[in-house]
Amino acid sequence: MVKRSRILGCGSYLPANIVTNDDLAKRVDTSDEWIVQRTGIRSRHLAAEGELTSDLALAAAVRALEHAGVEPGSIDCIVLATTTPDNTFPATATKVQAALGAKGFALDIQAVCSGFIYALSIADNFIRTGQAKRALVIGAETFSRLLDWSDRTTCVLFGDGAGAVVLEGYDGNGNAGDRGVLSAHLHSDGSQYDLLYVDGGVSATGTAGHVRMQGQEVFRHAVSKLSSVVEEALVANGLEPAAIDWLVPHQANQRIIDGIARKLKLSTDKVVLTVDRHGNTSAASIPLALSEAVHDGRIKRGDLILMEAIGGGLAWGSALVRW
Ligand code: ACO
Repeated sequence: MVKRSRILGCGSYLPANIVTNDDLAKRVDTSDEWIVQRTGIRSRHLAAEGELTSDLALAAAVRALEHAGVEPGSIDCIVLATTTPDNTFPATATKVQAALGAKGFALDIQAVCSGFIYALSIADNFIRTGQAKRALVIGAETFSRLLDWSDRTTCVLFGDGAGAVVLEGYDGNGNAGDRGVLSAHLHSDGSQYDLLYVDGGVSATGTAGHVRMQGQEVFRHAVSKLSSVVEEALVANGLEPAAIDWLVPHQANQRIIDGIARKLKLSTDKVVLTVDRHGNTSAASIPLALSEAVHDGRIKRGDLILMEAIGGGLAWGSALVRW
């Protein structure tokens, strides 16, 4: 028998304010046609003034706990992936912990767009080693606060939101038929730090900074690194691409997602796509997409889900999860 963590439930939250490409075209020199053609994005949700990452995270967490049918007091670990914490410290996760009345310990992790895969892997490891029994894994972002709203090359790409899953330890058989996290595969390459970064920070400038990106270079790395990390996940579990029921990718750009689906020979109806309505919500994008497909009935018990993401660092990863 092998200790594993299965997902008991999931939930998500999107701020009420929806901003379309046409809305953005009133602020910067862009067009709906350009944005849709290059990225697939049509609209995104933006947090209201005073609406914080912890508010989004808490709303998603409450929904995930309800879906899982577990009491907040039974959670002994919260791992919150975010690049946009409420404050530099303490961890935003501790605010969520207090609001929920959860026990144990709570921490933030920062892996930008790969944050949810990293957080899932960290929580899975806490559970496998017995340090936690029931964990809440959250991806939550108010990424709009990091954008330079005069820079059309970045401000059209991102949105705000949050998603969460509840993980619980159980004894599995140790094969690919088990439910839960089968494996996670993490990578980073700090030599590509300057491809995607914010031009501020506590130590560097004392400010939060704004997103700066070499879009074409990031695109090139995304296609090759995601291709290899999804292959790595399949090989680690002795599975062929045909075994995948659902691709739940990080939602940065439809062209990147289509490229990975083509490589896996997955038809488009096996790909969960939210980028058109959410934009890139960084660490929140995978749990938002997962939650949508679970709650609308597409993802069913026993389905095999492949998740993948890449972002600043560069940091990238994949996870195979059986629902
Ligand atoms: N509206 C209109 N024109 C624009 C816009 C805009 N919003 N942004 C850039 N342009 C212009 C450029 O100025 C350029 O004009 P020029 O030819 O006169 O110089 C032209 O469009 C082409 O610009 P490129 O940067 O070459 O456009 P490209 O086809 O590479 O698309 C994009 C840009 C969408 C950013 C693409 O490179 C991309 O998706 N890269 C991946 C980056 C990404 O997704 N980052 C998110 C974080 S990382 C992650 O999550 C994977």
